[in-house]
Amino acid sequence: MNKPIRKAVVPVAGFGTRLLPVTKSVPKELLPIVDVPAIQVIVEECIASGIEEVIFITARGKAGIVDHFDYSYELETYLAEKNKPRALETVRRVSSMIRTIAVRQKEPLGFGHAILCAKEVVGDEPFIIVLPDDIISSKVPVIRQMVDVYEKYGQGVVSVMRVDREDVSNYGIVDGESWAEGLYRVRTLVEKPSPDIAPSNLAIIGRYILPPIIFEYLEEAAEKHGVPIQLTDALARLAHDRALIGFEFEGERHDTGDRLGLITANIDYALKREDIGPELKEFLRKKHEAGEF
Ligand code: G1P
Repeated sequence: MNKPIRKAVVPVAGFGTRLLPVTKSVPKELLPIVDVPAIQVIVEECIASGIEEVIFITARGKAGIVDHFDYSYELETYLAEKNKPRALETVRRVSSMIRTIAVRQKEPLGFGHAILCAKEVVGDEPFIIVLPDDIISSKVPVIRQMVDVYEKYGQGVVSVMRVDREDVSNYGIVDGESWAEGLYRVRTLVEKPSPDIAPSNLAIIGRYILPPIIFEYLEEAAEKHGVPIQLTDALARLAHDRALIGFEFEGERHDTGDRLGLITANIDYALKREDIGPELKEFLRKKHEAGEF
């Protein structure tokens, strides 16, 4: 029987340089998808997939992320006194949605280092890493889709997606072999290769279910390659020594760490909202008719 996936590690220590100037003072994870901070969209995906605890890997200037999931006594008292039950309910739902733990990454030594910071808190159980830049709208939450694969095969699972050949240098790329619909046996992985040497155009997207031995592999990668410590090196070792499944998920992915991705995520989510979706459609229809796009 596989141990269940209960914990999600969510690295939120990055500067968000692709979104400057807004990220000079606002963590990118708190930028809104309509009126919900991106990080809440991620946490809701975790909850809908059975995750019980979220471990944020944070840094200076990122306290607002942890605060968002905490009780806000002043705000709740104010909303109760002003008799605003719906707003109060919205605020209370967020503060009681899940158990959170914050671990500081004191130095920016790479994505792999951020994950290593969670070693003690994760302990000896499999867990999922969720990158908050990758917001994915889907019928079944992508984490849930991956947990189903993990429960069936009992091995590490990384989510993958086909990308344009010229974009492979933005991703970890999988060298693998297809063995069932949407499933690949990963032979190895290369972090951000140039298009001429990339083994494929199958890119890793920010969801990884991993066994706890990954922490040992990360420590070895740190000794062997120094900093920045790359998760991809540890994943390659896992694929070689044990097994790693590449899983092509169902869903539409937006890179919200990027200007365009942040906007497409907003349009995608806004169009599905009952309160503003119909009016947004009308607005876009008029723009289109006016020949603006
Ligand atoms: C990270 C990983 C990369 C992965 C990508 C997915 O890169 O290192 O392997 O493909 O996330 O979003 P980053 O985008 O943080 O540079």
